Amino acid sequence: MQSRPYTPDDFLTLYAIEEVCFQPPLRFDRDYMWRLVHSRGTATWIAEENGRMAGFAIVEGIRKSIGAAAYILTLEVLPEFRHRGIGSELLRCVEDSARVANAATLGLHVDATNAGAIRLYEAHGFRCEGREENFYPPGRAALIYRKVLHTTEPG
Ligand SMILES: CC(C)(COP(=O)(O)OP(=O)(O)OC[C@H]1O[C@@H](n2cnc3c(N)ncnc32)[C@H](O)[C@@H]1OP(=O)(O)O)[C@@H](O)C(=O)NCCC(=O)NCCS
Repeated sequence: MQSRPYTPDDFLTLYAIEEVCFQPPLRFDRDYMWRLVHSRGTATWIAEENGRMAGFAIVEGIRKSIGAAAYILTLEVLPEFRHRGIGSELLRCVEDSARVANAATLGLHVDATNAGAIRLYEAHGFRCEGREENFYPPGRAALIYRKVLHTTEPG
């Protein structure tokens, strides 16, 4: 498995993964996804196995000033590639992007019923800091997870 930054040629394959991993209304709209991955404030990482795209992750808040909060917009692995550590590798990539940008924290929302993703985040040191009712339509709650990347010493 290899991980690398996104290039514009990846978009169609990336969006096909989105269509497999999420059904409406949880799926990102194609135009919105295009804007996300081409925004200067995000970093997108691609995971490949034998030259085939297996998953991707998008993190935002990586161009802000020191102490900012970075945020994982999505993390997706095709079903046939799951449980092999690809999600973990993508998580390490987005964490590295956040650390390089000197983000103080890395946060995310996850569907409160998404037990597999929750286990993955907790295994990587993310802690649940709250719950937001009706975050996902129709009326589905999200858990708010955060990992502290560095603390700012006073003075
Ligand atoms: C959540 C998701 C990204 C995890 O991807 P993944 O590639 O399966 O992640 P990993 O393989 O790193 O870890 C997941 C599981 O595999 C296990 N695992 C990791 N490496 C492994 C290996 N070599 N052999 C066996 N199991 C392994 C992990 O312990 C974990 O097990 P668990 O879920 O039973 O606790 C994937 O399930 C997914 O795309 N889901 C749909 C989209 C989604 O919900 N994304 C989250 C949005 S917040």
